[in-house]
Amino acid sequence: MANTETKLLPPPEHIAIIMDGNGRWAKKRGLPRTAGHAAGAEAFRRIANYCRTLGVRYLTVYAFSTENWKRSQDEVEGIMRLLRKYLEEALRDMEKNRVSFRFFGDLSRLSPKLQKMCLDAQSRSQDYDVQVNFCLNYGGRDEIVRAARCFAQDVLEGKHAPEDLTEDLMSSYLYSADVPDPELIIRPSGEMRTSNFLLWQSAYSEYVFMDVLWPDFGPEDLDRAIEEYHRRNRRFGGT
Ligand code: IPE
Ligand code: IPE
Ligand code: MG
Repeated sequence: MANTETKLLPPPEHIAIIMDGNGRWAKKRGLPRTAGHAAGAEAFRRIANYCRTLGVRYLTVYAFSTENWKRSQDEVEGIMRLLRKYLEEALRDMEKNRVSFRFFGDLSRLSPKLQKMCLDAQSRSQDYDVQVNFCLNYGGRDEIVRAARCFAQDVLEGKHAPEDLTEDLMSSYLYSADVPDPELIIRPSGEMRTSNFLLWQSAYSEYVFMDVLWPDFGPEDLDRAIEEYHRRNRRFGGT
């Protein structure tokens, strides 16, 4: 379990995670990729609970990207099935778990049933301990394009003039409006790239890349990432 030293350090208010490595985890065991995604869902449960224990306010997780539709139909269907199962349980246990939900991404491409579950989870969420921002059919570029379109529409309707656009106003058009930028972004699985995650919000985030595969990721790994975060010297362009 958690290492006591880390518990003394305040955790970041907002942690984001690219939940990567499910496929390789399954391959190593001779299992189908979907088994890796099922184990990844368990890892997510563990980490969401642990974030609540630590007092992390926002946990943003990358679950399915705008590019992940390129995968086989079998795999995509398997992931969607797991999401439905997870959301069913999350809706049932929401009060007990004290986790609220927001969805970042274009939900319109999901099945009507899954869309409804996402909207239900969002509307039944209250001001619980942890807010999970679930990135589903999410792409950082897509998010910025949508924001730009919405702003252009508001200009056309006379709600704004082009010169009104500031960084803060732009942020308010993103899925993450009202959520502070993540201080820490973790990518397990050994890959060192953003893969289109939180492009705008990560301007000054600290990245921690880790060799562990997501289904194996546990509280000790989160402790290690937070320790690494505390060793960084965040300058924000200053000296
Ligand atoms: C992350 O694990 C889950 C999704 C992208 C949906 P991967 O499925 O990408 O696992 P690897 O990278 O192939 O090991
Ligand atoms: C990023 O992982 C997306 C999610 C974890 C949901 P990918 O496995 O899709 O990214 P690439 O293909 O390695 O860049
Ligand atoms: Mg991957």
